[in-house]
Amino acid sequence: YQAQLDASDIEKGTYPFYMLKEIDEQPTVMRKLTQEYRDEYGNVNIDSQLVNEVAASDRIYIIACGTSYNAGWAAKSLIESVTQIPVEVQLSSEFGYNMPLLSEKPFFIFLTQSGETADSRQVLVQTNQLGFPSLTITNVAGSTLSREAKYTLLLHAGPEIAVASTKAYTAQIAMLAILTQAVGELKNSEASLSFDAFHELSIIATGMEAMVDEKDYLSNLVKQYLSTTRNAFYIGRGNDYFVASEAALKLKEISYVQAEGFAAGELKHGTIALIEEGTPVLGIITEEKTGPHTRGNLKEVESRGANTIVLVTEDLARPGDQVILPKVHPLLTSLVAVIPTQLIAYYASMQRGYDVDKPRNLAKSVTVE
Ligand code: AGP
Repeated sequence: YQAQLDASDIEKGTYPFYMLKEIDEQPTVMRKLTQEYRDEYGNVNIDSQLVNEVAASDRIYIIACGTSYNAGWAAKSLIESVTQIPVEVQLSSEFGYNMPLLSEKPFFIFLTQSGETADSRQVLVQTNQLGFPSLTITNVAGSTLSREAKYTLLLHAGPEIAVASTKAYTAQIAMLAILTQAVGELKNSEASLSFDAFHELSIIATGMEAMVDEKDYLSNLVKQYLSTTRNAFYIGRGNDYFVASEAALKLKEISYVQAEGFAAGELKHGTIALIEEGTPVLGIITEEKTGPHTRGNLKEVESRGANTIVLVTEDLARPGDQVILPKVHPLLTSLVAVIPTQLIAYYASMQRGYDVDKPRNLAKSVTVE
């Protein structure tokens, strides 16, 4: 896999945009992370002092912005389930003003593809001043947040050139899953006995490959439902809500469609007033217990004229559902559900004739507060 990444890293090759290349690289990145962090005995190979410090904490703060923030939310339930440590996911730009520390032994994890985001760095500076332990998970070796945190873990995802982050998002979640396994094993938690990150990531990589093969189908779906719309909604419950948030950010930032990611149950508390004839509403369903409720919300918006699209795991699919997702670990469904939403955003931008890799007003790394 190293050869596959090295050779094509900087060149677009036959790709029209870096973003499509980087979407395609995600299965390889999952396998690369396994290569980098699994030792010859199949155990997690991460600095034991780091694992000990996380295991000894009584609260994990995940600090990030944008897509990296969405990655933190997508990993939260897995981390809590396997490590039994409460996780708080916080926006760098909000948390920095008054760090309400409600715990004796917090551990700070900074998620940042670039390692240069000013909002996140200003929190790291305060974390260091307070003497709390910190880990930066980043795609850029030697970056500011990587150098200034106590620990650092690299994503080895290869350079991410497109402004819209794709492979870094899935790599951050996968990295957190690998760290979670090591911490869970140390704490000897019940859930850790049945959680094998590398095994799950191998299944997920195969599932991702199935999803990236759906380009033509998804391009046509975008033509049919999203070609002229000015707004769109992604809805979901639980982890599907967190993926809906990331899906909406991707669509918003490269196609300029006013997209929102919404907790499906919240729609009727106001936002449903925005639903008009033809408004696209995309429902994400990967959990058996929440699926029927999200389907109910989709019916509600359909009765008000919305065009609905269902992205659902194969075991929960019903006739008429448009995007079928492969079944993977229930707390890591974000890693496959996000792929079609990345491609939907890509085609919505490309079909509008925009520069997919360099959307207006945006920079790849926001180095100003
Ligand atoms: C994501 O597609 C955007 N480019 C943006 O939200 C980005 O995730 C955010 O600026 C954080 O960047 P970082 O991961 O490099 O800190």
